Amino acid sequence: MKQLVIKAFGDADQLVLTELAVDTMATNEVRVKMHYAGVNPVDAKTRAGLGWGAQAIKDRLPWSPGFEVMGTVQEVGAEVSIHQAGDRVVGLLTGGGYSEVVIAPANALVRVPKEVSDEMAAGLSLAGMTAWQGLTEHGSLKAGERVLISAAAGGVGHLAVQLAKDLGATVVALASPNNHDFLRDLGADEIIDYRNEAQLATLEPVDLLFDLVGGASGLALLSYLRHGGRVVTVPTITAEQVITAAKSQGLSATGMLKHNDTQQLALLIDAVAEQRLRVEVSHVYPLAEGADAHRQVETGHTRGKILLKG
Ligand SMILES: NC(=O)c1ccc[n+]([C@@H]2O[C@H](COP(=O)([O-])OP(=O)(O)OC[C@H]3O[C@@H](n4cnc5c(N)ncnc54)[C@H](OP(=O)(O)O)[C@@H]3O)[C@@H](O)[C@H]2O)c1
Repeated sequence: MKQLVIKAFGDADQLVLTELAVDTMATNEVRVKMHYAGVNPVDAKTRAGLGWGAQAIKDRLPWSPGFEVMGTVQEVGAEVSIHQAGDRVVGLLTGGGYSEVVIAPANALVRVPKEVSDEMAAGLSLAGMTAWQGLTEHGSLKAGERVLISAAAGGVGHLAVQLAKDLGATVVALASPNNHDFLRDLGADEIIDYRNEAQLATLEPVDLLFDLVGGASGLALLSYLRHGGRVVTVPTITAEQVITAAKSQGLSATGMLKHNDTQQLALLIDAVAEQRLRVEVSHVYPLAEGADAHRQVETGHTRGKILLKG
């Protein structure tokens, strides 16, 4: 089977397609034919040697990126009863999703109902759980509150906009003008071009900042919080900087690292099946063109999700 790997940290050209044997399966694992793998900023940052992801794998190269995987079960281990051959499944894995065939723990995967397309399911696990956990577990967002979401049109952001609306919040979304109609369709209440100072000056204070950009952007957005407001800053590389500044301004602030919760993922999939949640897929690349997918995610201006097709 073919797998995209990096043998050293570096630019997108480090991603090379290799042929290798499929690993043997443990009794609690399943073998999945990958249909789509989500491409996320963490894949590109780790490939470049940045952040916690690179620290974790630096002594284990070659490494194949890919945390978001969707496919069909080919075979199950002897102890597996929750899935069977032929099931369409999706999950958040620990890497290796950029592969034609993936071996994964059965309990990390959730069945995809027929109402949900392969593409929508594929973009949901990492981005959807990050959006949900950020807004609820870390942000404690409640009905009637105002939440400011930066990078609102991106992979995590466009799901966060819809989930925050569903929770009964008033959603203020930051995006470039070409994404404003898209965000209005998703239910955002107020949409602001983050480069337009005059528009930003009209912004009323918010209860929660869901910061999906971090760094200078996260720092600048702190001034839009009400007294005692809350901040969840998602990019890990700049989290300490934003948290320290927020706390010095009397705000409560936290970073986050998404975790796998298959019950949450199943609820998100149900929401897609019931058309309460939409996953926007803007780019699909063949597995062999993973380097182009990384160049796209590194533009920092992708609408919704990027997928690799197995
Ligand atoms: N800690 C965790 O567990 C965790 C989990 C998931 C993601 N993350 C991190 O969270 C961040 C967002 O992830 P993602 O997948 O949503 O990224 P993404 O899809 O690549 O985000 C793209 C979006 O960012 C917007 N953007 C770029 N610069 C901006 C700025 N200065 N202000 C406002 N919006 C801006 C773009 O908006 P326009 O095109 O409209 O300009 C674009 O729609 C990444 O840093 C990622 O690594 C962390």
